Amino acid sequence: MHVLLVCLGNICRSPTAEGIVRHKLSQAGLADRVEVDSCGTGGWHVGQPPDSRAQEAAARRGFDLSALRARQLTEEDFERFDYILAMDQNNLQILNQRRPGACRARIGLLLDYAGYQDRPVPDPYYGGEWGFEEVLDLVEAGAEGLVEDIRRRLEARS
Ligand code: 4NP
Repeated sequence: MHVLLVCLGNICRSPTAEGIVRHKLSQAGLADRVEVDSCGTGGWHVGQPPDSRAQEAAARRGFDLSALRARQLTEEDFERFDYILAMDQNNLQILNQRRPGACRARIGLLLDYAGYQDRPVPDPYYGGEWGFEEVLDLVEAGAEGLVEDIRRRLEARS
């Protein structure tokens, strides 16, 4: 199973989501059955580590984002991943515009898996520290629901 988390710059929200989803899969004993990655729809920060504010806020909750590096969405991502989950509607719209006709991935918003309908993970880049805490709260809720969904689908396969 392959999961891709998508935001605009791949330095704040989606690397946070990558680290948290990986951590929660590990806690659920599913780490060896699921590959997790993240990317941005924009390319301004390619090659950069996550924003230091995102890294510090995540580290305070025990999530280590330091090894991650930003990359941009590619055409091949639509073939490789089973779940392609955006942090907000703008990025979801870009995914839906770029998805090839033959793409079989589940494309949606991460917070759909937290039971929220149409709720974004707000972009914290130009805001204050509290924005990064809000990202963590929302992404943790989405990640927990996503891990449950993945567990059910893996059980249905076996
Ligand atoms: P992200 O946040 O999409 O959560 O990584 C942003 C990072 C950089 C920019 C915008 C959003 N930027 O405009 O450079």
